[in-house]
Amino acid sequence: MTNDQRQAALDYARQHNNEYLNNLKELVEIPSISTDPEHNSDIQRAAAWLAARLTGLGIQNVAVMPTGRHPVVYGEWLGTPGKPVVLIYGHYDVQPVDPVELWQTEPFAAAVLGENLLGRGTSDMKGQVVACISALDALIHTGGLPVNVKFLIEGEEEIGSPSLGKWITEHKDLLKADFCLNPDAGMLGKEYPSITYGLRGLAYFELRVFGPQHDLHSGMVGGIVHNPAQALAELIAATHDQNGRITLPGFYDKVLPLSPEEHADFARLPQTEADYLELTGVKALWGESEYTPAERIGARPTLEVHSLLSGFTGKGQKTVLPASAQAKISCRLVPYQDPEEVYEQFKRFLTEKAPNTIRWELDKFSGGPASISDLNQPGVRALQLALEEVWGITPYFKREGGSIPVVGQLQSLLGIESVLSGFGLPDDNLHAPNEKLHLPTWQRGIESLIHFFFNL
Ligand code: BES
Ligand code: MN
Repeated sequence: MTNDQRQAALDYARQHNNEYLNNLKELVEIPSISTDPEHNSDIQRAAAWLAARLTGLGIQNVAVMPTGRHPVVYGEWLGTPGKPVVLIYGHYDVQPVDPVELWQTEPFAAAVLGENLLGRGTSDMKGQVVACISALDALIHTGGLPVNVKFLIEGEEEIGSPSLGKWITEHKDLLKADFCLNPDAGMLGKEYPSITYGLRGLAYFELRVFGPQHDLHSGMVGGIVHNPAQALAELIAATHDQNGRITLPGFYDKVLPLSPEEHADFARLPQTEADYLELTGVKALWGESEYTPAERIGARPTLEVHSLLSGFTGKGQKTVLPASAQAKISCRLVPYQDPEEVYEQFKRFLTEKAPNTIRWELDKFSGGPASISDLNQPGVRALQLALEEVWGITPYFKREGGSIPVVGQLQSLLGIESVLSGFGLPDDNLHAPNEKLHLPTWQRGIESLIHFFFNL
């Protein structure tokens, strides 16, 4: 491929931007919420849409392949023997939309508002998947692909990819590749392109606390029955000490202190405390004060409550002493922590701390370890140059607080390293109302992907 061809592909992508945006809107309009069985047919529709799009592009052996739960969309184009094989990862599933009343537009309407495309999954990560497909489309129409590609697009990422590990193991040969391009990790800001080399792991739980056999009149028994909502609140409060550290027994045993080099890496990032205050809208930041905010997000473990449910939540008042209370809780994990061990630690914590007035149950949902990716690989260099070409600055290298299970699975099961990046922004409202994609950044993303494939 020559430089003329590179330019031709960039021009082609610019000219077809509207078509690419319309493609993305079609995909966003499919409400492929993976956690809700009522959306299983939408999951199938999203997978079928992608398979059709890949086939239309000339990708070969495209297939919607069943797994234990939601299917994987696979496809390959291996027409340049001797050139690298890039495994392109994506997920077509999205998070639920509630609280739906806080959305400015219908969550699946895919409406353009100013410079943004609004809708669940626009940034996380249908926009990133369509950016990859669009970059390949532009290359294919202007002289052909300069490298070999394979696609692995799953439908379970937002529920922790529970069936993907097994599917990967069963398709080792099919997935042979030099490295994986994973655009699910976003960038630091619209002028701050970045490559991610660390992700936190996750251990997700549901804790249920049971008191009386059924709801009771709070006047008739208040004062003699330990309210399960109160007991749950006491247990949750006890999970952290005054310094914001987690009290599950043994929780930090495998957590390594940050080396001076790691501190220096974090100090190079452009984010300030003021940026985080603005991004979140909170009155003050919280957490382990001996670490900077970027360190606390990228390299320290946490325990978060996702929901609390108990008693009467309707309008008005009702004097009830509820029979039970429940919370969804997860821990973000750092390297060497093991989700199974954290589950055992949580159970030990409850055994030691729960009062004898209640009974508790702890269920474990999805889990996966943290990952650190190798930065000394050709894919990283090619992407670094590509981002530099488009943004005019060398990208930041960062560790992120989010989790992407496939990264660790590919590493441990196939020895495949991932190059993590993406064109989502910190204020895209991932998992929240009014998720959006910044379209000018998305367009730059497509252009940098063209450079990337060309650089390989
Ligand atoms: N794209 C995110 C992960 C992410 C977010 C990486 C921000 C880097 C920066 C991904 O789709 C996601 O949300 N993953 C879930 C995985 C979990 C359910 C196992 C997460 O992190 O909560
Ligand atoms: Mn997500």
